[in-house]
Parts: sequence; structure tokens; C-alpha cells
Amino acid sequence: MELSHRGKLFMGLAQQAEADLRELLAIPGNYAVLFLQGGATQHFAQIPMNLAGEGDSADYVVTGHWGEKAASEARPYVKVNIAASSKDEHYLRLPPRETWQLDPRAAYVHYTPNETIHGVEFHDIPDVGDVPLVADMSSDILSGPLDVSKFGLIYAGAQKNIGPSGLVVLIVRRDLLERAGRPMARIFRYAEHAANDSMLNTPNTWGWYLAGLTFQWLKEQGGLAAMQARNQAKARLLYGAIDGSGGFYRNPVAVASRSRMNVPFTLHDSALDADFLKESEAAGLLALKGHKALGGMRASLYNAVPLEAVQALVAFMADFAKRHG
Ligand SMILES: Cc1ncc(COP(=O)(O)O)c(C=O)c1O
Repeated sequence: MELSHRGKLFMGLAQQAEADLRELLAIPGNYAVLFLQGGATQHFAQIPMNLAGEGDSADYVVTGHWGEKAASEARPYVKVNIAASSKDEHYLRLPPRETWQLDPRAAYVHYTPNETIHGVEFHDIPDVGDVPLVADMSSDILSGPLDVSKFGLIYAGAQKNIGPSGLVVLIVRRDLLERAGRPMARIFRYAEHAANDSMLNTPNTWGWYLAGLTFQWLKEQGGLAAMQARNQAKARLLYGAIDGSGGFYRNPVAVASRSRMNVPFTLHDSALDADFLKESEAAGLLALKGHKALGGMRASLYNAVPLEAVQALVAFMADFAKRHG
């Protein structure tokens, strides 16, 4: 941690991390890869600053908590058009593509491929025509192969599938870097970060280093096709246990919209929640308490979670249901 980010050793690590990420996602050469700070939340605001000019509008497709946040943080910088929202349906399903009110003059279309709290995921990349598609992949990046060429910009807080908190990976089509016409400090300008290899100021060297180790680990696991197969197997096992529990456990999300990464579920009687959490923790199954916005439970099945952990969870769930059913 005492190494200078401009020293040869760190520069080598940084370049290797970028090369490995480019290989894993097959990122085309006309995309810049940036290693930034500020969390995904800062980029909710910085994306419109960079991609929209004065008076422009942008389309937002809102399918959960984080999409709502992204739209609200963008409002000071762009006219936000909510092109589709499933809020009235409590975010239990994705709004059908044919109902989206997209504006062909929008500066970009923003969506959240995986909604971490609501457990709702797109399983296809939506076709939005020629308008650049912007995706907050904070909770699904690297969970499977991705056609990066379908996107204008992809960004992700690193803290789930990549590594530690405090790092944001942002992949942007280079022609979009030319857009940022409005006055803003250099530190907010993606083009400046790209021109300076993400070292406009001191980067998060620790996060970048650990991200690089994760990229190497992913390559050793067989790359993103192997991760996809593993993630699908984990999700199938857990949803199967929930749906097959005779109503003891319940996941309310429409089957076609269910997330492979985040599985919220409730117990048939919420009076059992405290016992479920206490006993699961004693069994070594941690962090199952649901987000405070939804209550109940949530199992996150990020890349680092092995199939054996999900097998242990479903065995515990079956035993708990037998004892309390
Ligand atoms: C999909 C999504 N977007 C944005 C965020 C916010 O990220 P950060 O805390 O890095 O700002 C999260 C955090 O959990 C998330 O899951």
C-alpha cells in the first residue's frame, strides 16, 4: 500500500487488470475502460453531466429502488423522462418492452439490468435503437458473458462481483466521450480520466489491485460462460427450494423477471423471521436479512458464492420448515 500509483509495479498491475477485464468481457477497442471512485451513486449524477448537453432529455426505465435513485440523482443535469416503470406493480415484474415510451431524441436510455433489492433482472439486452444504452451493472457485472457492443456506457460499483468497495468500473464507447460540452471541473469529465489512464488523481490502488486478482480468478474458473452456468445452477436450486416449499417460503417476483444474483424471499409467518435469522447464522449462513425496504430475507448469490453454500442454505431451509411448519 506504500507503492506510488505512478510507479512501475503498480502501473503494471493496473494495465494487467484492464487487459484481463477486456479479455473476460471481450470489450471492443473503441471502448475505454475506467477505474474510478465515488460509488455507483456518484455516477448516477456524473453520467448525465457527461452524456447530456444543456436542455437535453434522457429516458429512464425504472424497475426497482436503484433505477429510481439513478433517475432522481440525474434530475439536476438532464430532463428525466420515465420511459417505463413497474413501480405501480411493486417492482414485481419488468415492464414489457412494447410499453416503453422511448424518445428517439433522448441523449441516452438508462436502465438497471439487475435490481439488487427487488431481485428483478433483465435476461436480454433491450433494443433501444440508435440511442446509447446506459446500464448500471453494479450487481450483475461479470455474472455471465455480455455483448458490450450493445451499450454506450456500462458502470458498476465493484463491491459485489468485482472486489472491494470504493472502486467503480466504467466502460464507455469512446465517441461518447466527445459529448461533454458543459462547463465542469476536470475531475468530473470522463474524457479526462480516459486521457489520463484513470490516474488524473490518486486512484483507489487497493481496490484496483484486488479487482485485478478477481479478474485473474475469473479466468481460472473458466471465464464468464463458466460463471454463467454456475450462477444459473445456484439460482435454480434456491428458487426450486422456495417454490417447492408448499408456501412456507415465497418469492413474489414474476418467474421470467427473477434475478440470478439476489433472491428475496419471505416466510409464511413473519413472526418466524427472527428465529430463521438466528438459527441460520448459528449454522454459518450469514447476511440473509432482507433489505429494510422490503423486509423478509434476501440471499445474494454473487460470483464468490459457491454452489455448496446454496446447497447448505436449501438444506437448512428444508429443516427449518420441517421444524416450524
Ligand atoms: C444496482 C445498484 N446500483 C447502485 C448501487 C449503489 O452503489 P454505491 O453504494 O456504490 O453508490 C447499488 C448498491 O448496492 C446497487 O446494487
